[in-house]
Amino acid sequence: MKTLIFIIQSDALKKNFMQYSKIIGLGHAVPQTIVTNDDLSKILDTSDEWITERTGIKERRFFDPEIEGSLAKMAKKAADMALERAGKTKDDIDFVIFASITPDYFFPGSSVLLQRELEMDTIGCLDIRNACSGFIYSLSVADQFIKTGMYKNIMVVGGEIQSTAIDLTDRGRSTAVIFGDGVGVAILSASEEQGILSTHLHAEGKYAEELYVKDPGSSRTKEERQPEQILDTSGFKVYMNGNMVFKHAVVRFQEVIEEALNQNNLSASDIDMLIPHQANLRISKFIQSKLGLPDENVFNNIQKYGNTTAASIPIALSEAWGEGKIKEGDLVCLAAFGSGFTWGSALIRW
Ligand code: COA
Repeated sequence: MKTLIFIIQSDALKKNFMQYSKIIGLGHAVPQTIVTNDDLSKILDTSDEWITERTGIKERRFFDPEIEGSLAKMAKKAADMALERAGKTKDDIDFVIFASITPDYFFPGSSVLLQRELEMDTIGCLDIRNACSGFIYSLSVADQFIKTGMYKNIMVVGGEIQSTAIDLTDRGRSTAVIFGDGVGVAILSASEEQGILSTHLHAEGKYAEELYVKDPGSSRTKEERQPEQILDTSGFKVYMNGNMVFKHAVVRFQEVIEEALNQNNLSASDIDMLIPHQANLRISKFIQSKLGLPDENVFNNIQKYGNTTAASIPIALSEAWGEGKIKEGDLVCLAAFGSGFTWGSALIRW
């Protein structure tokens, strides 16, 4: 009897231990309002030529509260699409993870607001604030929850309304032209088949102020907290040292992709689809050439949406998958770099 119980238990343990998380559905939503480079050059000292040459971006979407309502409402649209494509309902979901640095409120985060929009039960909700790496960090957390057997189905969201955080004056022109709004959602499910093979996460906090929004943090001095100073809203806008971000990004992207490949005894030529965080087309092209990947093995949509921070990877993944560019058995590599600095990668057997 004792032996039988042991066999049953060790079988269950083995099963649990070998559990993978698989992305079974993806969805995305972007605001209706298209803002072209020419539109921006009417309000900023910039041009389509400058933006296209430096970033690859042709247009982006800007949120309109009259149309989209809120980030949580936009996320609901993307979540409904992901659930439908996954063949699941909101009642199948055990946990929600929402990556955003532009949530509806300073607190609580957008995960609970999405839970409310979807009329979900009292399942746990978690917010992640790792900017452009937020989706990879979220995916990694979800993967651990599934691997340990704690949850079976997790909704992972990356969503941003960056247009409210950019400085749309000449002073902010080098950052204002880069960012856009949108939401992407992935449904992760426990599976005995391979799925997420590994995730790799890194950070280097000494560069925190090279790409950041200062307010409404608690770092204001006593003087800065005086009522007349509160009216100084410059700290609410994105500050970015573009050159510094660029130099670190190209190194870290390549490093963290190679780390993932090495851990899995794979090489760059095994990658069927690379989806880099859509930071800048020049950065994506640089990584592509370093890894020696042909155009058809890399997906970019920054031309249409700009840099949507935590939303960029799930939107791109949802589009690439929807267009049939990712097939069963493909090796998919996701990688991101951004504020913190933080960076990470995920290697997935589809
Ligand atoms: N339109 C026209 N001119 C602009 C401009 C704009 N929107 N923004 C800046 N410029 C000007 C600058 O004033 C400067 O002019 P000067 O030479 O007369 O002084 C010139 O263009 C070059 O500015 P610089 O900031 O050195 O440009 P850059 O080549 O570094 O490109 C970025 C700027 C932001 C596009 C680039 O640094 C970049 O892509 N960085 C990475 C950003 C990124 O990926 N961020 C996302 C993080 S995940």
